[in-house]
Amino acid sequence: MENIEAKLKILKDMRQRARMGGGEKRIEVQHDKGKYTARERIIRLVDEGSFEEFDMFMTHRGVGDMEEYLSDGVVTGHATVNGRQVAIFSQDFTVFGGSLGEMFAKKICKIMDYALKVGIPVIGMNDSGGARIQEGVLGLAGYADIFLRNVSASGVIPQISAILGPCAGGAVYSPAITDFNIMAKDISYMFVTGPKVVKTVTQEEVTNEQLGGSTIHATKSGVAHFVAENEDDAFDLIRKLLTFLPQNNMEETPPVSCDDPISRIEDDLNYIIPSDPNLPYDMSQIIELVVDHGDFLAVRRRWAPNIITGFGRFNGRAVGIIANQPSHLAGVLDNKASRKAAAFIRFCDAFNIPILTFVDVPGFMPGTVQEYEGIILNGAKLLYAYAEATVPKITIITRKAYGGAYDVMGSKHLRGDLNYAWPSAEIAVMGPEGAVKVLYGREAKNMEPEKLKEFYTAKEKEYREKFANPYDAAKMGYIDDVIEPRNSRFRIIRGFVSLVGKRDSNLPRKHGCIPL
Ligand code: HXC
Repeated sequence: MENIEAKLKILKDMRQRARMGGGEKRIEVQHDKGKYTARERIIRLVDEGSFEEFDMFMTHRGVGDMEEYLSDGVVTGHATVNGRQVAIFSQDFTVFGGSLGEMFAKKICKIMDYALKVGIPVIGMNDSGGARIQEGVLGLAGYADIFLRNVSASGVIPQISAILGPCAGGAVYSPAITDFNIMAKDISYMFVTGPKVVKTVTQEEVTNEQLGGSTIHATKSGVAHFVAENEDDAFDLIRKLLTFLPQNNMEETPPVSCDDPISRIEDDLNYIIPSDPNLPYDMSQIIELVVDHGDFLAVRRRWAPNIITGFGRFNGRAVGIIANQPSHLAGVLDNKASRKAAAFIRFCDAFNIPILTFVDVPGFMPGTVQEYEGIILNGAKLLYAYAEATVPKITIITRKAYGGAYDVMGSKHLRGDLNYAWPSAEIAVMGPEGAVKVLYGREAKNMEPEKLKEFYTAKEKEYREKFANPYDAAKMGYIDDVIEPRNSRFRIIRGFVSLVGKRDSNLPRKHGCIPL
């Protein structure tokens, strides 16, 4: 009896030692920076009392005279979030600055292997000084072992990264492969090389924030899918995001109970499109009016805002939504918008999440800037993603669907299952302004400016009546029906219900060669 008591005490003491990470003083420093410790983060994220820790007693294998800390700077295990299993790792900045050595990497690999084996999402909380200097190449090897697992898990289990501190050097490539990066404001930054190296190589002087803060990655690079106000907000976001995702690629997102009537008619939708086709309107209002309870989670909201991507529900079932945004750059497809939508479509397709597309697009953005940045390749990514996707796909054209952008944005020709148009839809090879100049340029050649304006206005009207409507496309069966806007929610829900049994696949192959 005495013997077991003594042994239990040793266990408890060791657990307590592990829980103290790098010690009281460093925990205090972490708190003074306004940051939680690795374990505090897990406790705040998961369902109360659900966390089961792995490898609490693991330490580094003794390199030089390094201090030994139980858990070796990363806390790993499984837990439930909203009652569903997840795997977690949380880097502990209080132990060698959260830096990654051999055993640290082994712990992350082990929990990732576990997540893959049982088919559950993996959530990584990053707060690290990068490769552990004292462990030399062992750290670099450890990173590569993690990258390999990130790649193996891609499209098999959802991978979510929370960036809650530094994430620098090659370390950024693990979050880069994961599906969603959530950066907490003010405390997080990500870059391949820090400000000091930048200064040495390019003489450029930048701060951490300017180089790789949350605002930069949310607006310029697109690396951050979400920016959280603080850590607690980041955990709320992760919990919400998980409700839209299945556990793995063999499952579907579990439906939630829904008391928003499926036959909810929204009269406002009939009047949302301005009578002047050149005036903008806010596409997000349309989305909010049709999804369950107006609840929409935008992904990469501030990057390429000319296209909207995000999750909503219809009658309790998760749907990925892609929509051109006429209130930003007229909803044009440029390089960033094409990449943003393509990535989102591929995620939804990999994880059996049906896709709804709202189209109001004047075309691809012309000009040298776009061409030099590869609009040909980037636009092709978007069309590739739509064509490849086999999940149920419903498309609604609210207004403009011109040129190549008509083809690309979830058209019937790229395996759209149900393609609807509102009566305000304009489906044509190009907009009236451009078309009349091509068609009547010779006739208009020597006209006086006033006469010319009158001539083109009349021709534009004629063109609009003849081509800029949904009925030519409906005549060919490219549009399945022209629907009253106010009935859209009802029609979408019925459409997805009818598509529940959809079976579609691509030809067997190792993998396609998406234009990268
Ligand atoms: C070992 C490290 C460390 C590292 C920090 N520490 N980074 N120990 N290896 N890489 C330790 C510090 O010695 C210190 O220990 C504690 O962590 C906290 O660090 P501070 O510098 O006091 O904290 P702070 O001022 O907040 O600065 C954080 C920091 C800075 C910006 C992350 O520590 C830093 O610049 N670290 C080096 C970053 C770096 O260059 N890493 C290598 C990147 S290359 P004590 O004992 O005092 O608490 C890379 C290659 C990956 O990662 C390749 C993958 C393919």
